[in-house]
Formats: sequence, C-alpha cells, structure tokens
Amino acid sequence: MVSLTLLAAVLAIAPTALSQSTNSTILNPILPGFHPDPSCIFVPEWNSTFFCASSSFNAFPGIPIHASKDLQKWQLIGHVLNRREQLPRLAETNRSTSGIWAPTLRFNNGTFWLVTTLVDDDRPQSDESRWDNIIFKGKDPYDPKSWSNAVHFNFTGYDTEPFWDVDGKTYIIGAHAWQVGPYIQQAEANLDTGAVGEWRIIWNGTGGMAPEGPHVYHKDGWYYLLAAEGGTGLGHMVTMARSKNLSGPYESNPANPVLTNANTTSIFQTVGHADLFQDGSGNWWAVALSTRSGPNYVNYPMGRETVLTSVLWPSSSFPTFTPISGSISAPLPASSLSLPSTYPLVATPDDITFSSATVLPPYFTHWRYPISSSYTLTPSSLRLTPSHLNLTALNGNYAGSQHFPPASNSSAAPGQTFISRRQTSTLFTFSIDILFTPDALESELGISAFLTQNHHIDLGVVLLPRKAATDTFEGSDTRDPEELIAQFRLRGFSYVPVPKDVVIPVPRVWVGRESELTLEVRADNATHYVFSAGPARRVAEMREIGTWSNDGVSWGFTGVLLGAYATSNGGAGRAVGDVKRWRYADRGQVRE
Ligand SMILES: *[C@@H]1O[C@H](CO)[C@@H](O)[C@H](O)[C@H]1NC(C)=O
Ligand SMILES: *[C@@H]1O[C@H](CO)[C@@H](O)[C@H](O)[C@H]1NC(C)=O
Ligand SMILES: *[C@@H]1O[C@H](CO)[C@@H](O)[C@H](O)[C@H]1NC(C)=O
Ligand SMILES: *[C@@H]1O[C@H](CO)[C@@H](O)[C@H](O)[C@H]1NC(C)=O
Ligand SMILES: *[C@@H]1O[C@H](CO)[C@@H](O)[C@H](O)[C@H]1NC(C)=O
Ligand SMILES: *[C@@H]1O[C@H](CO)[C@@H](O)[C@H](O)[C@H]1NC(C)=O
Ligand SMILES: *[C@@H]1O[C@H](CO)[C@@H](O)[C@H](O)[C@H]1NC(C)=O
Ligand SMILES: *[C@@H]1O[C@H](CO)[C@@H](O)[C@H](O)[C@H]1NC(C)=O
Ligand SMILES: *[C@@H]1O[C@H](CO)[C@@H](O)[C@H](O)[C@H]1NC(C)=O
Ligand SMILES: *[C@@H]1O[C@H](CO)[C@@H](O)[C@H](O)[C@H]1NC(C)=O
Ligand SMILES: *[C@@H]1O[C@H](CO)[C@@H](O)[C@H](O)[C@H]1NC(C)=O
Repeated sequence: MVSLTLLAAVLAIAPTALSQSTNSTILNPILPGFHPDPSCIFVPEWNSTFFCASSSFNAFPGIPIHASKDLQKWQLIGHVLNRREQLPRLAETNRSTSGIWAPTLRFNNGTFWLVTTLVDDDRPQSDESRWDNIIFKGKDPYDPKSWSNAVHFNFTGYDTEPFWDVDGKTYIIGAHAWQVGPYIQQAEANLDTGAVGEWRIIWNGTGGMAPEGPHVYHKDGWYYLLAAEGGTGLGHMVTMARSKNLSGPYESNPANPVLTNANTTSIFQTVGHADLFQDGSGNWWAVALSTRSGPNYVNYPMGRETVLTSVLWPSSSFPTFTPISGSISAPLPASSLSLPSTYPLVATPDDITFSSATVLPPYFTHWRYPISSSYTLTPSSLRLTPSHLNLTALNGNYAGSQHFPPASNSSAAPGQTFISRRQTSTLFTFSIDILFTPDALESELGISAFLTQNHHIDLGVVLLPRKAATDTFEGSDTRDPEELIAQFRLRGFSYVPVPKDVVIPVPRVWVGRESELTLEVRADNATHYVFSAGPARRVAEMREIGTWSNDGVSWGFTGVLLGAYATSNGGAGRAVGDVKRWRYADRGQVRE
C-alpha cells in the first residue's frame, strides 16, 4: 500500500518535473541554408551541450559541427573533415551529388564518433566501390586536429551509424535502399579498425521508397529503429519500428509515419531523415531535414535545412512528434546559455574588408579541396588566382560538345577558384567589391549563386569582344566590334531553362586601374535573385543586370553557396583579381 502510494507520487511528479520549464518558441529552421541530414547529440560531459553534424557533399571544409546550449542559438564550432589527408579522395569524386552523405554523430565513453559515406554517385548502385564508408573519431570537437583520418569499412550502402549495445558489443547500421534493396542492415564492427562482420537485413521499412537514414535507440528494454522513407523529396517521411533484440525482428509502429509534411500546404516540405536526442531535463527532441519549398517544390535555393521539434516519448511506447512548422512551442532548456562568441552563429552576416591580418571566417567554403595558393591575403585584399576550370568545370575534353543540360560529371581535380558562404536567409544582399583587369579572352572574376557544377548563376567581369554585348548602359559605342573589352556577363547553368546570357560593357567611366566595382546579388523575395553592378561605394549608380528566378538553383541535395570565383574559362587569362570587401546582409527569413 505504502509502496503503491509512493509509486503514484513518483508517477505524478515525473511529468510535472518535465514540463516545469515553461514553453518558449523555437524558430525553424535552426540551421538555415545548406545543412541537410542532421544528426545531433546532447553531451552532459561537455558542459551539457548539444552538437549537430550535417552532410556536406563536395563542400570543403566538410561535415560542419554546430553546438548549442539552449537549442536556439547554434554556433559553428568546427568541421570534422578539415584536412586533405583525412580523406584525399574527396578531390576526385565525380558529380555534384557525390561526396559526404548523411553523417551520424555519437558520443561514447569520452570519444566523439562520426560515421559517414564518401559516395561516388556516378558508379552503379550495386558497385561496392561507389560507397566508401568511413569512421572519424575525436576527443575534442572544438579542436580540428582532434578529428582522426578516415578509417574505412566495407559496406555496400550508405547512411551508416555506430551503435554500442548494452552487452559491450559494437555495431554499424546502414541502408542500401535505392533500386537494390530496400533494406536496412546491421553488422558487428570494430570502430577502431573498420573490421565488420556479416551484414544482416534487420528491417525493410513500411513499403515507402528508399528506407534509409537508420538510427537505433535503446530505451525501456526496446530497440527503437527510426528510418527515413519516401525519398528526400515531397514524399519524405519518418517511420519507426521496434524489437526486443537489436538484430530483430522489428515490428512497425502502427502510427507510421511518425513525422512528415507530405500532402500538406506547409512551406516546410520534404521533412524526414530525423534523429532523436534527450536534453538534461529529460525532454526528447528531434531534428530532421526540411526544404522551404511549399508543395510547389520549385523555388528552394537553400535546399535541405535542419529543423527541430519536440517529442513526447512515454515509457514503453513509440514517441510522438510535433509536426514541423516555422515556430514550435516547447519546454526549452532552462536558461539561454551561450558558447564563447569566438564561434560564429550559424547565420552570421559578413562585412569583411580584407587585409593581411584577416582571419577568414570558419564557414568560408570551397568546392572540394582548395589550392591554397589561389587565395592570398594582400595588405588590402583577398587575391584570387584564376583556375583553368570554370564553375561548371567543363574542361578541354568537353569543349565543342555543348549539351543541354550542360552536365559536367567532372571531378574538377585540377581545382576551381571559388570561395563562398552559405545562403542562410530567404532575403539577403551579398556583394563583393573587386579590382580586376581581365587580360585575355574569357578571363573572368565574379560572384556566383552556386548549387552544383551544373546549377549556378554567375555575374562576372569578363573580357569579351565588344560585339558580344546584348545591351549597354552607355549610348553609342564606336569601338571596333572585335575589340576585347571588359563586360558584365550574367549567365546561368541548370537542368531547367534559364534566361539567355546578358552581356553589357562595363561603362568606360567605371573602368580604370583604381576603379573598384561592386558585384551584387540580392533576394527581395523567395523566388528571385536580382543581380546588379556598379562603381564601388556609389550605391546610387548601381545598375541592375538581371532579375532571374532561383528555380535554376533549386535542385537535389545541396543548398546555394554565395561566393567569388576567378577563372580563365580554359583560355590564356592569368590576371589575378582582388576582392576588397565582402558583405552578406541577412534581410529576413520566410517561414510561412
Ligand atoms: C565547460 O565550461 C567551462 C567554463 O566555460 C570551461 O572552462 C570548460 O573548458 C568547459 N568544459 C568542457 C568540457 O566543455
Ligand atoms: C572521375 O571520372 C574520371 C573521368 O572519367 C575518371 O578518370 C576518374 O577515375 C573518376 N573518379 C572517380 C573517383 O571515380
Ligand atoms: C572507455 O575508455 C577507456 C579509456 O580509453 C577504456 O580504458 C575503457 O576500456 C573504455 N570502456 C569501454 C566500455 O569501452
Ligand atoms: C566487401 O564486402 C563485399 C560483400 O560482402 C565482398 O564481396 C567484398 O569482397 C568485400 N571487400 C573487401 C575489400 O573486403
Ligand atoms: C527484406 O527484403 C529482402 C529482399 O527483398 C528479403 O530478402 C528479406 O527477407 C526482407 N527482410 C525483412 C526483415 O523483411
Ligand atoms: C537476437 O537475435 C540474434 C539473431 O537472430 C540471436 O542470435 C540472438 O540469440 C538473439 N538474442 C536474444 C537475446 O534473443
Ligand atoms: C500523400 O498522398 C498520396 C496520395 O494520396 C499518398 O499516396 C501518400 O501515401 C501520402 N503520403 C503520406 C506520407 O502520407
Ligand atoms: C508545451 O510544449 C509541449 C511539447 O511541445 C506541448 O505538448 C504543450 O502543449 C505546450 N504547452 C503550451 C502551453 O503551449
Ligand atoms: C554525366 O552523367 C550523365 C548521367 O549519367 C550523362 O547522361 C551525361 O552524358 C554525362 N555527361 C558527361 C559530360 O559525361
Ligand atoms: C519576386 O520578385 C520578382 C522580381 O521583382 C517578381 O517578378 C516575382 O513575381 C516576385 N515573386 C513573388 C512570389 O512575389
Ligand atoms: C567553361 O570552360 C570551358 C573551357 O574550359 C568552356 O568550354 C566552357 O564554355 C566554359 N563555360 C562553361 C559554362 O562551362
């Protein structure tokens, strides 16, 4: 009797304790911009901090880690993939859908583990060499050097995660769905050496396309298996199953899918690829990826972003998830704590005037490994040395075979001079001030809204014959039509039709050795980019070059990078260009 009363009291207290912290509002996405396939943990041993990893495909540095103490302010504390020697083959991947897919971040016995896959997406699904599965480990996520080189393990599949069972055995769980499975597999593994045992199929999902992104949680004597199904587009969803035995058989949750925005009118679509974690007060949370496309799924240049929601997970039953929307009311961790301000917030604005002393922000990003000598700091600029390859990276082999779409599967191993940051807000203004005198036909420096090598819109200053102009900002021009002159060129590449190139001579009053130009791209709404140019520091003289839909850079797995490139377009140009100032202003998020 007494014990029953005590039990009742405990039961009564528990839910109250959990809901004691009053609800606050979390705004989604928590990691705006190109931050897909989130995997997050809460680590009491590291000052009760939340850590999240994201996919990075061919971007370098890769696998960003964001940390937070209050689930609201997320700061970039480093990248797991931060040195070429950790994974040299990222330099050689063909195709923009290749590279680092879906990491899982876990903490076990004092060590952080990051298991992921380097995918060569141009090889057959069943080809084991397509899937280079790898393990990184580190003792200190704030120290880039702490992350190990990749340890490779044999698995014909992707979306791999480590799992430590209660009996001390260690496993890897992964998916091999697309066209070959569908199935989720598991094998015993030595995470230090990469040695793996027999792979066994543990679940085939609920029948949706491509069951993938598996995560196993051990709770109340059950192994809960969470998966993504339906593909990463509009049909994306989260499903669950459970078993008393890690190896199965797993029984599906009758309430599947547990989380999806499929068949809704929400701006937040493609919700899936979730991960679950519990905070210090015992509350459960889920992160997932989502695309702010609305059901039209046409304009979503920021691609797959990270969203957060609250979860109720009563003992011995499946969890229930609050559906994803732009704001979630939930019991947040008690106080709004921060990490040191040296770690930038995920959506940091920029206003950088370069000098020899400039420390480039840690979120500056390249496409595969940069040739570091192509990016040098002078006393007053970031100096870019042009690459032979342009951003499409069509190289000599493809010259003369212009196809539509201009699919370049090139690995771009010779390098592309491109330095960028993520578009992290729906509305923004990004600009660079440059000093550049192109020196040969097709010698070019510009800004790009870059999604993949086959999807980018570029506004450059480029040397072209006068006759190439499609318009002019000046009156009559009596120069020889064959004369090579500096022109603004706005052009795009995509799998959807994009407007014709716009080519406009740089007005002669703007040209000169010390005449800096501003190149700008801004978004005043969720569907279009406005590209402009003008003499630096004379805002009133800025001229619009073109207003283009962002549908051409809304596709696939990645999200738009905004940056500066320099290229000879395969020509004889060698002129370096100086970026004097770099600005990104966040002008608002669209969440409804
Ligand atoms: C925890 O925070 C304290 C104070 O900010 C800091 O000195 C310490 O290094 C941190 N420890 C860990 C493990 O994060
Ligand atoms: C990328 O494609 C090139 C050209 O076909 C080939 O030589 C190279 O081996 C490929 N790289 C990888 C990693 O498959
Ligand atoms: C935890 O780590 C310590 C130190 O690295 C090691 O000695 C110990 O065996 C580990 N324990 C388990 C359960 O792996
Ligand atoms: C990898 O595993 C596959 C399938 O089990 C096997 O055929 C192959 O020989 C293994 N490769 C290596 C390098 O162990
Ligand atoms: C999953 O599908 C595979 C291949 O279709 C089949 O061999 C296997 O028995 C199924 N496994 C489960 C656990 O349903
Ligand atoms: C779990 O399943 C595996 C594979 O079927 C089996 O070998 C093992 O004995 C099972 N464990 C328990 C505790 O039932
Ligand atoms: C969305 O609706 C379609 C058509 O009715 C249906 O086939 C699909 O299962 C639904 N998706 C989800 C996740 O509910
Ligand atoms: C607080 O958040 C929880 C979990 O999201 C939710 O169930 C509850 O309705 C919220 N309460 C209020 C007053 O909004
Ligand atoms: C790139 O790959 C696609 C799909 O396999 C193929 O259709 C296209 O021809 C390839 N392009 C080049 C330039 O090799
Ligand atoms: C966004 O702005 C562009 C250019 O001003 C305009 O053409 C387009 O209709 C606008 N889109 C929406 C959804 O308002
Ligand atoms: C890129 O450079 C190649 C030459 O290297 C050239 O053929 C191509 O037209 C340029 N433009 C694009 C979009 O690739």
